[in-house]
Amino acid sequence: MDLFSLEGKNVAVTGASSGFGHHFAGVLADAGASVVLGARRTEKIQARVDEINGSGGKATGVALDVTDLRSCSDFLQQAEETYGPVDVLINNAGVEAGAKTYAMIDEDDWDYVFDTNLKSVWRLSKMFTEAVGRTGQSEGNIINIASITAYRTIKGQFPYAVSKAALVKATEIMALEGARYGVRVNAMAPGYILTDVSRVLLESERSDTFVKGIPMRRYGQFEDLNGPLLLLASDGSRYMTGSTIVVDGGHICAEL
Ligand SMILES: NC(=O)c1ccc[n+]([C@@H]2O[C@H](COP(=O)([O-])OP(=O)(O)OC[C@H]3O[C@@H](n4cnc5c(N)ncnc54)[C@H](OP(=O)(O)O)[C@@H]3O)[C@@H](O)[C@H]2O)c1
Repeated sequence: MDLFSLEGKNVAVTGASSGFGHHFAGVLADAGASVVLGARRTEKIQARVDEINGSGGKATGVALDVTDLRSCSDFLQQAEETYGPVDVLINNAGVEAGAKTYAMIDEDDWDYVFDTNLKSVWRLSKMFTEAVGRTGQSEGNIINIASITAYRTIKGQFPYAVSKAALVKATEIMALEGARYGVRVNAMAPGYILTDVSRVLLESERSDTFVKGIPMRRYGQFEDLNGPLLLLASDGSRYMTGSTIVVDGGHICAEL
């Protein structure tokens, strides 16, 4: 199990006030990491930080708006000041624009989704890579949270699915270019798990039909992501870069 230990690692997680990020923070802390939680809803962040610290973990919270340049820079700086150089950056913050087709969205929908899901990943990853060089760390590790909508999708997930497909490609290019700085870049592409992002679909009347399309016949649970998360965050994945791990009960393999 030492292979997957995060003892001594400093992990910064964006979008940690709810859903996956909130869950990931606890899993990472349980594996020994110091965790820096970022999001806009600071009261939720603080509650999670208190929970983790109260159960013997090490966590701190920082107000973060990933669409704001200064806020991103402050987030990484405060993470470094609190626990030392950041070892792992998890680009998890993400939004969707509601159940809209490409013909229904407007300019604001496009910018909202792309600024949060894609531009912020580039921005934070660039800052993180610069910090790896500046602090003289031998390596850095970036994990992007993509989605199975990068590979297959349904009507009404534009531009969310487009942003996630681009994120998978960004992961590959950043892996190629990041290697010279000692930075590994991988992604996880979860299937459907009930959170605020997926609620619009999973609580709709299409839900029953939809779940029948999943070979394992159920939506995912947060805990289903623990193993892949620890693999990517730890030295267990030390020879992996540019990979996207799909965690979806076989959903993308489903018959047409
Ligand atoms: N749930 C699924 O089925 C599913 C499947 C595949 C992939 N994903 C991906 O998983 C990631 C997490 O989503 P989730 O399902 O856990 O949904 P969620 O509960 O809505 O979490 C989204 C998180 O992103 C944060 N966020 C949104 N905009 C932000 C901003 N401008 N700055 C900082 N943080 C921001 C939110 O925090 P604040 O509002 O407090 O800022 C929240 O903590 C997303 O990238 C999503 O696309 C989800």
